[in-house]
Amino acid sequence: MKIGVIGTGYVGLVTGTCFADSGNDVICVDIDEKKVERMRKGEVPIYEPGLNRVFDRAIRENRLVFTTNLDKAFQESEIIFLCLPTPPGADGQADLSFVLNVADQLGNLFNKYPGYRVIVNKSTVPVGTADKVHEKIAAKTDHEFDVVSNPEFLREGAAVEDFMKPERVVVGTRSQKAAEMMTALYEPFVRSGNPIIIMDERSSELTKYAANAMLATKITFMNEIANICEKVGANVDNVRRGIGTDSRIGKRFLFAGIGYGGSCFPKDVQAIHHTAGEYGYNFRILDSVMKVNEYQKVSIVEKMKLYYNGKLEGKTIGIWGLSFKPETDDIREAPALYITEELAKLGVKMKAYDPEAIETFKEASSDEALANIEFMDDRDSVINDVDALVICTEWNEFRRPDLSRFPKAMKEPVVFDGRNLYDLNRAEEAGLIYISVGRPSVNI
Ligand SMILES: NC(=O)c1ccc[n+]([C@@H]2O[C@H](COP(=O)([O-])OP(=O)(O)OC[C@H]3O[C@@H](n4cnc5c(N)ncnc54)[C@H](O)[C@@H]3O)[C@@H](O)[C@H]2O)c1
Repeated sequence: MKIGVIGTGYVGLVTGTCFADSGNDVICVDIDEKKVERMRKGEVPIYEPGLNRVFDRAIRENRLVFTTNLDKAFQESEIIFLCLPTPPGADGQADLSFVLNVADQLGNLFNKYPGYRVIVNKSTVPVGTADKVHEKIAAKTDHEFDVVSNPEFLREGAAVEDFMKPERVVVGTRSQKAAEMMTALYEPFVRSGNPIIIMDERSSELTKYAANAMLATKITFMNEIANICEKVGANVDNVRRGIGTDSRIGKRFLFAGIGYGGSCFPKDVQAIHHTAGEYGYNFRILDSVMKVNEYQKVSIVEKMKLYYNGKLEGKTIGIWGLSFKPETDDIREAPALYITEELAKLGVKMKAYDPEAIETFKEASSDEALANIEFMDDRDSVINDVDALVICTEWNEFRRPDLSRFPKAMKEPVVFDGRNLYDLNRAEEAGLIYISVGRPSVNI
């Protein structure tokens, strides 16, 4: 099939590359000229495990091309995926301007290059957006087309695998023709029997928000349990094992930590909360989820204040991990952003390391924070001569360091672990003063 992909961010680039890998001809459009130039030269502009290999193959076989020219992509495509940003706008409402501006241009293009096409919203968009996109296009043309909702469930860090082997594909359309084309396109990805679930557009749009809101709530619930564990002297690891074995609850998304971040959960929770409000419904549980998560992100700074009796000024603190989760360079809404900003305000100097996200982190940080952070090339040099270490992201290389080195290298071997990476006995034996989330502190 001939596929157009508009927007080549985390979702668009993975979508385009994976469709090309399954034998389709894909043309990707982006307005970012530098990015398009890099991709044309065969460079993958984001860090995503496994993407390079599939990308190289698709380029080599000439099935994946990049352009800044929307006309060209439209002309050559039967199915056009909108993988555009939908950032939070005023009051947490999803900003649809990127999607609707492109929809507006598509209307004119139908007149220029007639022929039936399916326009697919892959961006995460509020209920009713398929209708809005339809209206925008129909206002400009009488040609036949369908607008389909096809939310994306990939996880950054495992995006290629998720796209290639989705647990389900959700397609929102009431058009038989569009449903058949979407089914044909996705069939190679669900050969092991996972379902392609066809439903109406609105249910499909809501499904994506419901999934993210449910996962954010599950994480937040566990963070609340962790906070209670700290008060009552329980260990959240034990509680997690105790409840995760219950199949009604399940083992995943039960790890306590310093809050959820990333480009999806925070904005999608806000957006569905806002949509509910627009329809006169107060989505109360999400009010709490957002409040708890806001606190959770900086809860580690509160623990530091407590440990140092409020006197953090002049301390040098090491930071391990800047991305919002491992295996990505995405720092959107990353707890590390909030923690470093907060520490800079308190007069703390920092030494920070992340395997992939230093450049993206620099772009997103304030001048004040950057003036207080020295970025290091490796994990081990961060801990030399620091007063304490803060672990913000659970990259694999932070999981098994030689803990016995900490007391020798650091001024004081204090570790504030926002991701509960170390066994408490191991930390104790290594002589760490170890403060984690929802577990008893060690050597205090
Ligand atoms: N990142 C994820 O893990 C993820 C997962 C599922 C769904 N989503 C959703 O998918 C959508 C895209 O997310 P993303 O993370 O890929 O965004 P992103 O910000 O990484 O990428 C968006 C891309 O669109 C390009 N763009 C902007 N305006 C354009 C235009 N007029 N024409 C062509 N290109 C244009 C930008 O230059 C950028 O390259 C969002 O709605 C997001 O919520 C994201």
